[in-house]
Amino acid sequence: MLGEAARRLRPLTDRPLWEAELLLQRVLGLDRREFLALDRQSDVEEGTAASFQELIERRCRYEPLQYLLGSVPFCEIEVEVGPGVLIPRPETEVLVERLSHWMTSEAPTTGGRMVDVGVGTGVILLTLLHRFPGWQGWGIDPSADAIALSRRNCRALGSQRACLVRARHLGVLAPHSVDVVVSNPPYIPTSELAGLQPEVRDYEPRLALDGGEDGLDHVRVLLAQGREVLKPGGLLALELATDQPDIVVRLAESVGFERKESFTDLAGRPRGVVLQLPSRAGR
Ligand SMILES: C[S@@+](CC[C@H](N)C(=O)[O-])C[C@H]1O[C@@H](n2cnc3c(N)ncnc32)[C@H](O)[C@@H]1O
Repeated sequence: MLGEAARRLRPLTDRPLWEAELLLQRVLGLDRREFLALDRQSDVEEGTAASFQELIERRCRYEPLQYLLGSVPFCEIEVEVGPGVLIPRPETEVLVERLSHWMTSEAPTTGGRMVDVGVGTGVILLTLLHRFPGWQGWGIDPSADAIALSRRNCRALGSQRACLVRARHLGVLAPHSVDVVVSNPPYIPTSELAGLQPEVRDYEPRLALDGGEDGLDHVRVLLAQGREVLKPGGLLALELATDQPDIVVRLAESVGFERKESFTDLAGRPRGVVLQLPSRAGR
């Protein structure tokens, strides 16, 4: 059964057998260790085989593996994922690592207030709240699906310090009330959406991808509003496309931010920036 499924998945993925195994593991309700210990020659119940075939059919129609599995690991947490909300990516783990570094050295040590704009599943906010126990966090997203899913992830992880709000950008926050703003905003230029791989183009929400003509519509709003809601010395960390960090640093400097760092992803490609407002004395 696995061999046949892997053969069908071969045209759409580099790891067909691994994907088939994960989908069967999900249907059987086993963890990886239990799955590997199974006798590969044993019979599978009819209902199990039918459920597995249904998942393989859906995957053959390019539905993302993560939506079919229902959850993904991210840094040290695991979150539910599902249709209507962007699947967390490994480069976003780098954003969280770099911001964690700067929060440790530049932000209040006893606690503060952070905002994740475009919270999606909640991975950025929930990982940071887990790492920084004295902090409160807001997660903002205009998508009802994202707010519902991030609330479920928040409950599942037992986080009592996150407030999830259906809104746009930072307009709901009071001036100079926030220590850290973080965002993995939609940053793909509209003209590039049609060329994305089918898993992304046909299944992930356009609201999570479309950054407008040059991809920077949301970034411009975040720089302008971030300047207003951040306290002096506040941090703004952004994930970006590979060609955007230099442009964004120039835009940020023109509205009063200083660059702390432009960081790269694990493949060495430029993927984001950490910016800071001058402290009060410097403003
Ligand atoms: C690239 S996804 C990031 C999701 C999640 N933070 C992550 O890293 O996996 C961008 C998110 O921004 C949200 N979004 C779109 N327009 C927005 C707006 N005007 N204000 C705030 N969030 C917005 C989308 O709904 C989506 O959840």
